Amino acid sequence: MIPSILPTPTETDVARRVAAELLDFAKETIATRGRVVIGLPGGQTPLKLYEVLASEFASAAPWSEVVITFGDERCVPRDHPESNQKRLHDVLLDRVDIPEVNVMEPIGPEVTAEVRDAAIHKKIAADYSAALEQVVGEFGSLDLVLLGLGTDGHTASLFPPALESPSPEPLVVPTLAPKTSPVRARISLSYGALRAAREVWVLVTGGGKAEILSRVLAGEESLPLSKVIRDRVGNVRFFVDAAAAQPPRR
Ligand code: 6PG
Repeated sequence: MIPSILPTPTETDVARRVAAELLDFAKETIATRGRVVIGLPGGQTPLKLYEVLASEFASAAPWSEVVITFGDERCVPRDHPESNQKRLHDVLLDRVDIPEVNVMEPIGPEVTAEVRDAAIHKKIAADYSAALEQVVGEFGSLDLVLLGLGTDGHTASLFPPALESPSPEPLVVPTLAPKTSPVRARISLSYGALRAAREVWVLVTGGGKAEILSRVLAGEESLPLSKVIRDRVGNVRFFVDAAAAQPPRR
């Protein structure tokens, strides 16, 4: 199944298109489920989207019925420069009227240094998974997950090679980023959680992602994002700019 690709000329167009579609989706879901649970990615790609949501859409979005969870997080203190929590608060969450209880914070104040202890790492993942189970409750899955794509094919903090998942699989798992990453200990929505989400929207911009995007769309098995979208029941949409949509130079 080739997921729908929605190329738009620039990354600002991508941000504006995703923001508008996100608003529509949120309103539809709130009308039927009373709230919408959205997983948000870290990284650079979604920053323009967050800026659009915090400025042009700040008053338009039904923030009191929006629940935000993190697609993944680095296990560092909440004020650490590598923290997705810090960045998302700075660029979006502290700029809109979303109730504090609607934001599922993955890292608590007890984390005062980068986590290197395996038991602590596992506990952070298990606690976040349990909290997310509570939130998704009877529906059992997130309504929408926005994802980025790393040049190695990783998404959230699920890194290649995409291995078999345990069954049953928790909603959130501890993972280790490659040794070259600034922070290795991560937590991430699991393959099971991502595949069960009603909607998965992937944001890919910039010519540097053209090659990996083409490999994902070709279904390369070892790539985590390929595993997330393969034979999915729910909707998969790719929001890409013209540069990322360029067929890679072979
Ligand atoms: C993270 C993200 C990660 C990101 C990709 C792409 O915590 O870093 O969740 O999965 O989406 O690494 O990152 P860029 O958008 O910066 O290219």
